[in-house]
Amino acid sequence: MGKKRSNRATFVDIAHAEPHLREDAARILHETFIEKGIDAWCTIEDAREEVAECTAEGMICIGLVIDGELIGWGGVRPMYDTVTLELHPLVVRLDRQRAGIGTTIVRELEARAEAAGALNIVLGTDDETGRTNLCEFDFEQFPVGEAIARLKNVNDHPFSFYEKCGYRVIGIIPDANGPGKPDIWMWRRIRGSRT
Ligand SMILES: CC(C)(COP(=O)(O)OP(=O)(O)OC[C@H]1O[C@@H](n2cnc3c(N)ncnc32)[C@H](O)[C@@H]1OP(=O)(O)O)[C@@H](O)C(=O)NCCC(=O)NCCS
Repeated sequence: MGKKRSNRATFVDIAHAEPHLREDAARILHETFIEKGIDAWCTIEDAREEVAECTAEGMICIGLVIDGELIGWGGVRPMYDTVTLELHPLVVRLDRQRAGIGTTIVRELEARAEAAGALNIVLGTDDETGRTNLCEFDFEQFPVGEAIARLKNVNDHPFSFYEKCGYRVIGIIPDANGPGKPDIWMWRRIRGSRT
C-alpha cells in the first residue's frame, strides 16, 4: 500500500531549517532555473551560496514544506533600509508549479515583511530568453513608459504571475543582462493593501 498523503503544509524559516531542507532549497533553485534555460545558479555550489546569502542576518527566507518535502521557497531583504524590501529569489519545484504555491509563498513573505514594518516590496524579473516582447524595442529611441504600456508576455514570463499577485511594472532596465536582455522591475505596497 502506498504512503498516504496528508498534504500538511507548513512554513519553515530556512535559516534555521534542518540541513536536508537547506540542501533541497539549493537543489530546487539549481534545477528549476536550468530547466527554464536561465543562466543563474548553473552549479549546485552556486545555488548553495545563494541559500547562504538569503539566510544571512536581516533577511527573511521561508520555505513551504508539504508532507515533509520542500516544495518552494523565497526571500525578502532590505533594499531601501527596511521600508522597501526586495523579493529575491522565488522558486517553486518544477512538478508543483501552477498550483497556487508561488502565490502562497508571496503572501506569507508579504505578511512577514509587513509584520517587520515594511511598506513596499519590489522585485526584478529578468527576461534573458525573449519571453516578453521587450527585445523588440530600441530603448535608446523608445520611451520606457511606452514599452511598459505595450509589454506583452510571449512565453510564460513570470511578470504575469507577479501581476496576478498585485505587483505593477514600474520600470525596465534595458540590456541589464546583455543586449536585448532587460530586467523588469515591479512594485507593490503591502502595508494595509493585502488581499
Ligand atoms: C514563477 C513561479 C514562482 C510561480 O509559482 P506558481 O506556484 O507556479 O504560481 P501560482 O500557481 O501561484 O500562479 C498564480 C497565477 O499566476 C499564473 N502564472 C504562474 N506562473 C506564470 C508564468 N510563468 N507565466 C504566466 N502566468 C503564470 C498562474 O497560471 C496563475 O494564474 P491564475 O490565477 O489565473 O490561475 C514558479 O512558476 C517558478 O518557480 N518559476 C521558475 C522560477 C521563476 O521564474 N521565478 C521567478 C523569478 S523572478
